[in-house]
Amino acid sequence: MPEKKLRVAVLGAGRWANMAHIPGWLRDPRVEVVALCDVELPLAREMAAGFNLPEATDDWQTLISREDVDVIDIVTPSDTHHQLASAAIDAGKHVLCEKPVAQDFRETLRLSALAESKGLKTKLGFTFRYTPGVQYAKSLIDDGFVGKPFIFNGYEQNSQWINPQTPLRRSQMREDQSQIQVVSLEGYGAPIIDIGRWWVDAEYSSVVGTMRNFVPERMVYGSDKLTPMNIDDGDVFIAEFANGVIGSVQTSFVTVGNFPGVEARIFGDKGAIICRMVEEFGVAETIKVATPDSVEFKELTIPDKFYPGGGAPTESWRSLFYANLIKDFIDEIFEGGPRNQGNFVDGAAVQEVINAVELSCRERRWVDLPLER
Ligand SMILES: NC(=O)c1ccc[n+]([C@@H]2O[C@H](COP(=O)([O-])OP(=O)(O)OC[C@H]3O[C@@H](n4cnc5c(N)ncnc54)[C@H](O)[C@@H]3O)[C@@H](O)[C@H]2O)c1
Repeated sequence: MPEKKLRVAVLGAGRWANMAHIPGWLRDPRVEVVALCDVELPLAREMAAGFNLPEATDDWQTLISREDVDVIDIVTPSDTHHQLASAAIDAGKHVLCEKPVAQDFRETLRLSALAESKGLKTKLGFTFRYTPGVQYAKSLIDDGFVGKPFIFNGYEQNSQWINPQTPLRRSQMREDQSQIQVVSLEGYGAPIIDIGRWWVDAEYSSVVGTMRNFVPERMVYGSDKLTPMNIDDGDVFIAEFANGVIGSVQTSFVTVGNFPGVEARIFGDKGAIICRMVEEFGVAETIKVATPDSVEFKELTIPDKFYPGGGAPTESWRSLFYANLIKDFIDEIFEGGPRNQGNFVDGAAVQEVINAVELSCRERRWVDLPLER
């Protein structure tokens, strides 16, 4: 145990803080959650009481500038991430932030450089990089199980919003409805795009993709009637990576299937791995592998060392996967060295791919990366 506990302040007392972030911090004895902030004070008070946290506030500016806080955890709507992360880094705090930090990857890169110049660590909420199965798969890839990789396929899809009566947040609806707006590609694409470049071990070098709006009217929180919504609720792109690997990514929140609906597949000259992170029949994920002399995919048991303390395959994916993410961030901060996976640089690289696919769709052409800085 370190001599001094890490002091964390959480911004946002909504669903994801409740199900993933706060349980993740509280699971680690090296941490003290000192305050929970929400601009809706009653929400902060209620959740702080439920988790037995010492303080609830609606004043994020004062909280971020407090001397006795080491880490700011941002679990607020996406249109607030950049402002809050920027303020936290300015104030000298390590930052865990839900994705995206900003819609334009260049702004994330600027924040990343600022954090690095101050010796601060950053982490994006790339939940699925940290599942026990994905971590195990990465260790198999690093040990040569796949050999030379050929093809990566990624999916994040489920039917969370297939029913137009299920409301979306206003922050997910852009003002300009004259052309289709990026929603699923960013919200659901980010984690699987991240796994792609991490497993393949190369940057995306060229992409071509399309976005589609399948459900044209939806309910929005705070309104009692259907509202026209020209948003991407399904998209597909194909990609080339800088090392010659090719790939495809499909995301949607109107495709039938259970949460979270993530699947990552990699095929190489020595083996193939399929990680299926779809909560089905009480199990959070499965990992299957095949080799050229044993082509029927077999399920592997994920070794215990990839699970967070007290974790099991039957735990909810939300708390199970996030506990690994948070533990890794705490390890990285206490280690103090350069290790910092899934950070704002990775977030910017993922956002750059999203920006490139959007451009490809709008201009109906392949787009090469990197984009202009
Ligand atoms: N990584 C993942 O797998 C994953 C899963 C679900 C949600 N998320 C992300 O988590 C974030 C929160 O999602 P949610 O479902 O909890 O939303 P939510 O709407 O339930 O909660 C967000 C809360 O933030 C509060 N808030 C807004 N501005 C604030 C500010 N400046 N300071 C403090 N609080 C503020 C709101 O009042 C609200 O209570 C979103 O960015 C979402 O995309 C990520």
